[in-house]
Amino acid sequence: MLNSFWNWFVIIITVGSILACWWLLHWTKGVSDRSPDDDGSTGHIWDEDIRELNTPLPRWWLHLFNITIVFALVYLVIFPGLGNFAGISGWSQIGQYDAEVARATEAQESVFGRFREMDPDALMADSEAMEIGGRLFGNNCAMCHGSDGRGAKSFPNLTDGNWLWGGSYDQVLTSITKGRIGAMPPMGAALGEDGTREVVAYVQQLSGQKADPDMAAAGQARFQTVCMACHGMDGTGNQALGAPNLTDDIWLYGGSPADIEATINNGRNGNMPAHENLLHEDRLRLLAAYVMGLSES
Ligand code: HEC
Ligand code: HEC
Repeated sequence: MLNSFWNWFVIIITVGSILACWWLLHWTKGVSDRSPDDDGSTGHIWDEDIRELNTPLPRWWLHLFNITIVFALVYLVIFPGLGNFAGISGWSQIGQYDAEVARATEAQESVFGRFREMDPDALMADSEAMEIGGRLFGNNCAMCHGSDGRGAKSFPNLTDGNWLWGGSYDQVLTSITKGRIGAMPPMGAALGEDGTREVVAYVQQLSGQKADPDMAAAGQARFQTVCMACHGMDGTGNQALGAPNLTDDIWLYGGSPADIEATINNGRNGNMPAHENLLHEDRLRLLAAYVMGLSES
């Protein structure tokens, strides 16, 4: 709300400018009403025959200006514009914004309200929920996990039923909501070159690949001192830490001796971004159910 000085300041300047335009138009129109024998010159003549003419605007052009004046007046009656006068339509920016938000919320409610009552199994069985989940996956997850969820090197496959961080609905929802950061420290310096090769042989053997038995045996001893804390005594991993099972021949970073050696030497830090600030809880639930569905099909 403007105080009464600014209120009148705005009204007087706005209406005054419109009246001034109207007066200007009216005054210039008079020029076109001159008599036929008037040659229209202002009386200024240069170089004997160069005359300055005072030619009026064509009528149609003049009327365009008249229309803008009428438009301005009608507008100022209907919409806010004159100081504190709200206009007879009662329109306001905030009112329009509120109406649009209310419409969007209602549309959301009609879609997601139903899903809120459903448990994960019911969501997975609901074709509309899975369709929306699939679209959300395509827009938010496919760039890393692939449009079919099968992942790629360093991005886990979500369809294989093999989980770094756990495959219950709640664990999957937590992975999506809070994000996950894998922390495999670089161990090459601690193991030394020979030690690293031995551990690589043991990891190969763990996953069922052929490896030199003596090297693997030496590697096992090292593994059980430096790797066990995270990957477990038998190498089956630890979902609380996101430490992968090394016995299943499923690889996030590749299972060739060179890949395993690179993992041990340089460490790995897979980063699943948190989505809690990007997507509403309603959508996160549908995504978790969709991912569960991917791994079960
Ligand atoms: C501090 C815990 C920790 C220790 C200690 C640790 N790791 Fe890891 N390791 C992880 C985590 C977590 C990952 C997954 C990293 C990721 O997701 O980016 C991982 C990943 C790996 C991978 C990659 C698996 C794949 O699927 O590609 C291999 C191989 C591996 N570790 C071997 C070892 C070996 C061998 C040792 C001992 C020399 C070791 N790790 C010590 C936590 C650990
Ligand atoms: C920027 C790339 C990226 C995006 C985007 C992304 N993820 Fe991930 N996601 C990862 C990585 C990398 C990991 C593995 C983290 C690790 O190394 O432990 C992961 C892990 C996961 C896991 C845990 C898998 C397991 O085996 O426990 C789930 C579930 C998951 N993502 C689902 C999703 C969903 C659903 C979306 C979309 C909302 C999504 N991700 C978006 C990169 C991404």
